[in-house]
Amino acid sequence: MTVHGITPEVFAAMEGILGQGGVAADAHEMAKYLGDWSGDHHGGALAVLKPASVAEVQAAVRLCHALGLAMIPQGGNTGLVAGAIDIGPDRGAVVISLERLNRIRLIDADNFILQADAGCVLQHIKDAAENQDCLFPLALGAQGSCQIGGNVASNAGGVNVLRYGMARDLIVGLEVVLPDGELWNGFSGLRKDNRGYDLKQIFIGSEGTLGVITGVEVKLFPKPRRVETAYLALPSFEAAVALFGRARRECSDLTSAFEIIGAECMELARLADPKITAPVTAPVHVLIELSSGGAIDLRALLIDFLAGAMESRLVTDAVLAESGAQAKAFWAIREGLVEGQGKRGYHVRTDLSVRISDIPALIAQARHLVSTEHPGWISQAYGHAGDGNIHFNVLPPLGLAEAEARTRGSAITAGLYDIVNALGGSISAEHGIGRTRQRVYWTGMSPVQRHLVSTLKTAIDPSGLMNPGCLFPTAESVS
Ligand code: FAD
Ligand code: LAC
Ligand code: ZN
Repeated sequence: MTVHGITPEVFAAMEGILGQGGVAADAHEMAKYLGDWSGDHHGGALAVLKPASVAEVQAAVRLCHALGLAMIPQGGNTGLVAGAIDIGPDRGAVVISLERLNRIRLIDADNFILQADAGCVLQHIKDAAENQDCLFPLALGAQGSCQIGGNVASNAGGVNVLRYGMARDLIVGLEVVLPDGELWNGFSGLRKDNRGYDLKQIFIGSEGTLGVITGVEVKLFPKPRRVETAYLALPSFEAAVALFGRARRECSDLTSAFEIIGAECMELARLADPKITAPVTAPVHVLIELSSGGAIDLRALLIDFLAGAMESRLVTDAVLAESGAQAKAFWAIREGLVEGQGKRGYHVRTDLSVRISDIPALIAQARHLVSTEHPGWISQAYGHAGDGNIHFNVLPPLGLAEAEARTRGSAITAGLYDIVNALGGSISAEHGIGRTRQRVYWTGMSPVQRHLVSTLKTAIDPSGLMNPGCLFPTAESVS
């Protein structure tokens, strides 16, 4: 007799390690771990393991290794590329959810360092840092659900990258359970350490394919004393690029966010919340944020900067947030886009990276492709312009059957990737490869790169048990 693919003996061994409530093998109990945030991907698993300590992760991994069971580490399941769910035909893996490994271990405000379990929700870490008058600057729409381990495993970006960097730039040390259950403790508290290979870098962005991250040591920053936010109207994406360069120069590099939104996206934000209205009317909207310590008159700096930009016609209208609540309302527009698109159902979702100066060309070519070759489909361009990261998404005409939309959607995605490749860009700026982009990732690599990536994987996970089908295509890969 089997319990959804695992024998009662294996189930009992798992429960022996993790206790009652530490293993789910029943379809109803597993359901919430097998569908992603977007509702776009549904998968299967033999069981979901929920270790509550590092020792339990080790014991669970040792057991899976001994039994030859594939393992999929899972954080908050907010990744948008199906990295944490097995959507392939096999579905013969065990999910290891980190949700019960969720303690802040240490906040060392003198050294601006925080240590936490990998299953800590990002917002929880940000709040803990703030309570010590510090800032943990990783900021993304999913921060109330995603976990720091997932952020590290996917090298998450978000809205403050232009000032503080990606997750990779925020890590001091990692603790990782390797595929055979061995523990590597790479915590040191050291910001500089040049003793040979920097092993943590291999695990950052590895998307669960090299081990289970169990602990993180992250950099904190002084909490900004002043934050100024403005919502701007611009005539074009060319103006947005020029404005960004000017903001860096004229605002002493104090720009902490520079998000662009094509006006066509506003309808989507309203799907998330019908009360949302843009404070300006223009083809392109920019949400700019400056932040600094207390001694700087940030508002005067921003006003001077905007006056100059308006004189040069880069900006045609500007609304400065007069309160924290108004700044929050501006951000609700930006955050509403992902949610609104989600409500619209299946759509083409991309995460493109180009040189900042190529943003206007990328958007113009992508819009042209959609309007000329895919009539009725609706282009949406927005993103982290300060990093050259555009989410160019395309919605199917209302009422189009999903199967048909998915087929056409694949063709649109391929066309968009051709455009980004011709511009020398990347098909993944911050979301990763997962199970939705591994073929295009793999075919885009040089033979030397392929060899190095495979060698690393084989060296650390010789049995190929960690997250099969993610990053590395299999014969059955869905894309
Ligand atoms: P999951 O989705 O659970 O997993 C992601 C990958 O990491 C999987 O391959 C999984 O196997 C692996 N993994 C998870 N935990 C571990 C672990 N402990 N050890 C080893 N491997 C692990 N992303 C951005 O970069 N920038 C954004 O601005 C952004 N905005 C978003 C907004 C919304 C509304 C949503 C829904 C998503 C957004 N994302 C964004 C994508 C997503 O939130 C990030 O990729 C996030 O880092 C994923 O974290 P998670 O804990 O949900 O990981
Ligand atoms: C964003 C996510 C989708 O920037 O990365 O909204
Ligand atoms: Zn993004």
